[in-house]
Amino acid sequence: MKTAIITALAGALTAVPVSASPESLRHRGQTGGQQRQRRAAESIQAGAVYSTVSDDITSITGTFRVPDPFAPTAGPTSASADRTTFAVSIYVSLGGLAGEASASACANTTSTLRAGIDVFWDGIGGTVMAPFAWYQFGTPAENTAFGYAGFGVTGGDLVRITATAAETGNPTILIENFGPDAKVASGSTPRESAPPTYGVGDNLGASLCKSEASWIVEAYWLDEQPRVPVALANFTDVTFTELAVKTKSGKTGDATGAKLVEINLAAQGGLLTKTAASTGGLQVKRVLGGA
Ligand SMILES: *[C@@H]1O[C@H](CO)[C@@H](O)[C@H](O)[C@H]1NC(C)=O
Ligand SMILES: *[C@@H]1O[C@H](CO)[C@@H](O)[C@H](O)[C@H]1NC(C)=O
Repeated sequence: MKTAIITALAGALTAVPVSASPESLRHRGQTGGQQRQRRAAESIQAGAVYSTVSDDITSITGTFRVPDPFAPTAGPTSASADRTTFAVSIYVSLGGLAGEASASACANTTSTLRAGIDVFWDGIGGTVMAPFAWYQFGTPAENTAFGYAGFGVTGGDLVRITATAAETGNPTILIENFGPDAKVASGSTPRESAPPTYGVGDNLGASLCKSEASWIVEAYWLDEQPRVPVALANFTDVTFTELAVKTKSGKTGDATGAKLVEINLAAQGGLLTKTAASTGGLQVKRVLGGA
């Protein structure tokens, strides 16, 4: 299936297949095949997970300013600050977080639709690397992630992501960049927007899990054996604003009605985030320590 997708993409200008994208994207695995022994409390995701019972989520939206990444100056990972790439991924997701060390209630046979931005600190060069915009859909095992080729984004830009699942028709996802000067996305004109690109509708089919949606900050898995999460960058606070979930029955929710999760990785110093929800908002701070 993946081969078919990449072949069909040959003519598409707005998406690049995983094989042609930066290392981070190839590594964006969610599959739980080879799960190592891990402490139950370990988690690669911070943020808020909104769930419904007997109700379908029809859309999720969230806006955030792209954070600036740094090398950590404290904790176990700081020892290799000059040899390591540090990263953090910020995304909005409709469907389960199914995969290892996730808080998801969606079965791992169901599909997810998500888009986000990865930011990187290159410890070797001692520089911030260009952020990377991507979208992903399918089941954890399908792991089909694509870059938004040519989507310009830098630290400080205000980005909005909206995923929609109509009762009939294909689900869609949209990423918009309002630039560094916009205070809010609502009512503003995006500087750039990337519409649903290849494959989202056809390949999601009916398998999208509509009982979960989330706003997430993640230390994504690297494609290594044994599998390890990327070294989490230090980063300026990530604040999701203008966030809303809508459901088929007409409910509207935000992070105050969601389950909060934290990144917790013993090898990187324990608890690495502190998440707080407010009406219409969600803040994720990089911290160090605790469990
Ligand atoms: C999917 O979930 C089932 C039940 O929790 C588990 O046994 C199986 O290993 C999982 N498969 C993958 C690929 O993660
Ligand atoms: C992250 O950067 C802030 C601001 O410089 C600093 O106070 C904090 O200790 C850093 N955290 C880590 C883990 O390096």
